[in-house]
Amino acid sequence: MELALSDVRGHSLDLKGIGHAFGATVALDEIDLTVAAGELIALLGPSGCGKTTMLQIIAGFLRPSRGEVRFDGARVEHIPANRRRIGMVFQNYALFPHLTVFENVAYGLRARKRPNAEVAAKVEQMLGLAQMAAFARRLPGELSGGQQQRVALARALAIDPGLVLLDEPFSALDKNLRLDMQIEIKSLLKTFGVTSIIVTHDQEEALSMADRIVVLNKGRIEQIDSPDALYDRPASLFISSFIGHTNLLRGTVTDADRVQLDAGPEIDLGRSVQRRRGTPVTLSVRPENIAFGAERPGAIPVTIRATVPLGAVSVTEGVTASGEAVKVSRARAAGIAKAQAGDTAWLAISDVSRVSIFSTPIDDVSKHQQRSV
Ligand SMILES: Nc1ncnc2c1ncn2[C@@H]1O[C@H](COP(=O)(O)OP(=O)(O)OP(=O)(O)O)[C@@H](O)[C@H]1O
Ligand SMILES: [Mg+2]
Repeated sequence: MELALSDVRGHSLDLKGIGHAFGATVALDEIDLTVAAGELIALLGPSGCGKTTMLQIIAGFLRPSRGEVRFDGARVEHIPANRRRIGMVFQNYALFPHLTVFENVAYGLRARKRPNAEVAAKVEQMLGLAQMAAFARRLPGELSGGQQQRVALARALAIDPGLVLLDEPFSALDKNLRLDMQIEIKSLLKTFGVTSIIVTHDQEEALSMADRIVVLNKGRIEQIDSPDALYDRPASLFISSFIGHTNLLRGTVTDADRVQLDAGPEIDLGRSVQRRRGTPVTLSVRPENIAFGAERPGAIPVTIRATVPLGAVSVTEGVTASGEAVKVSRARAAGIAKAQAGDTAWLAISDVSRVSIFSTPIDDVSKHQQRSV
């Protein structure tokens, strides 16, 4: 079925100097963000970092203490939520339980007093896109979680919004269904060309869905980047351990391009580490950037603790002489000799250009690292 979606256009969004306090709690501080029309942004960060507050300010449910919100260049702080052309999808779907699927999707159009024929055509189109046409007469209580989520999205899109805001939309779904829904909803939002902001504290969800990810920490933006750039070039130790898994290795700068690891070897990083000799540093090395090798200069000796198969890869954890845990991930090919617990092995960094260097002490991020494991 060919659909005329070309006239649907997403808003561009600008936040400038946004700050918000609830009494003494500063929820957001100096937020600057520009989102292009049609872009899909993920707001990612630990619990309490200000994600929902930011979404509510964009939606118009909350007036910021400070700063500007612009849609297509025009300020909107004075415009109430129901006049902002916004589609919302919440964690618990928030469907009206006493209304059929059809009437749920029709709700925003009826509130806007659209003629019956237009409502019927639009609802049919939306339910078709969401693959829920066959369920139009059911009540929300007669649907699965994933089906309810599709209806919630159809309802949000029915009013031709300029901006769709999704707050933890998949958290009530089980893990298998989640990935399917992430792919489905991303493709639906992209088909529409609508600008979308999805709030999540699940980094995999942010990586799989977003064009760009905004990482919030304690009310501030730590980094805004594409999923690949966040993963490969994290701006802080916090981000390196919050996005994906990583190994944090302590060391000391010994030369312009060298770091002596507490774990044993001196590592030549092949570039200036931009810190003075004697500076304590933490290196972040991804598990897929470490390989088993032979005893040679630069190799890190470890005692193997365990190997766990994780579907396509297997992850082996070893412990260095300095007591640091190091994870190595490998494609789980048949015939790979399994390292036995208690064995000594030598680990080598495969690509030093993909090692990130930070001055922050590990203690500052250890809490987040525990969360991500
Ligand atoms: N209505 C409120 N009154 C007082 N404090 C609030 C209110 N809403 C949020 N806060 C505080 O503001 C901060 C940010 O809250 P927010 O709900 O934006 O976090 P979040 O990133 O969405 O967290 P989560 O992942 O747990 O949903 C928190 O410290 C929270 O306790
Ligand atoms: Mg929240």
